[in-house]
Amino acid sequence: MALLEVKELKKYFGDTEVLKSVSFSMERGEVLAIIGSSGSGKTTLLRCLNFLETANSGSIRVGEHLLFDGDDPAFKSSSRIRRNRLFFGLVFQSFNLFPQYTVLGNLTLAARLSAKDQTKITGEHESIDEINNRAYALLERVGLSHKCDAYPCELSGGQQQRVAIARALMLTPDILCFDEPTSALDPELTKEVLRVIRGLKSGDNTMIVVTHEMEFARNVADKIIFMANGIIEEIGTPEAIFEHPQSPILQSFLNNALN
Ligand SMILES: Nc1ncnc2c1ncn2[C@@H]1O[C@H](COP(=O)(O)OP(=O)(O)OP(=O)(O)O)[C@@H](O)[C@H]1O
Ligand SMILES: [Mg+2]
Repeated sequence: MALLEVKELKKYFGDTEVLKSVSFSMERGEVLAIIGSSGSGKTTLLRCLNFLETANSGSIRVGEHLLFDGDDPAFKSSSRIRRNRLFFGLVFQSFNLFPQYTVLGNLTLAARLSAKDQTKITGEHESIDEINNRAYALLERVGLSHKCDAYPCELSGGQQQRVAIARALMLTPDILCFDEPTSALDPELTKEVLRVIRGLKSGDNTMIVVTHEMEFARNVADKIIFMANGIIEEIGTPEAIFEHPQSPILQSFLNNALN
């Protein structure tokens, strides 16, 4: 069974149809890269998957859990949406760390709030020590265990982004999404962040990465979606997309992006 199944997702802003029946699925441990020109709907798709926007129709299923069915208004209740957010993590282009908290504070704050949610849902409770230990382990994984007491303003952009990644992982999302995680970084810092994301793949994380980094998409993704004008114009392996693009829009996009 696919880990994620998205069917005929549509999203309107006013009269404008920004997602026009988007369907795809992912297996556990897969890395999906989403490429496409500005305004094609990449961020909107990620925001619908993370329940920061509510799609107008279609469905979203993670494993056995039907998270969204546009035909049933019950799926749009705020308690349901809050619970659905636990299935996904999202790392933004602009890090969005809390400036008033240390690195450790940034990691543990969201986890403590979620622990409360989890307690409500399952009755189980994770202690502060357990939360801290998970945070230390994740900081180690992104190469920043020596920075746990630093404040975000004391870190480079690349380090801040790695903290943001560790913070997203604290909530143990089933699917971790990235929206252009390196576009605010210079090339050297981009490399260190991409290295961390690539490392997560070997940790069996299921990830969706919206990116302009074509080399990264080609080398790390198992599958690539090319979006144009709110639809999946083409989907395939990196080899199919880069070596044998079928759609003229994709061909011209790649010509611009690679030359
Ligand atoms: N909150 C909103 N209200 C109205 N229109 C919106 C809103 N958010 C996005 N749009 C429109 O939806 C379309 C898709 O936007 P989206 O941000 O998903 O594109 P994108 O592929 O992520 O682009 P980029 O590569 O520039 O980040 C655009 O035409 C945009 O203007
Ligand atoms: Mg975007």
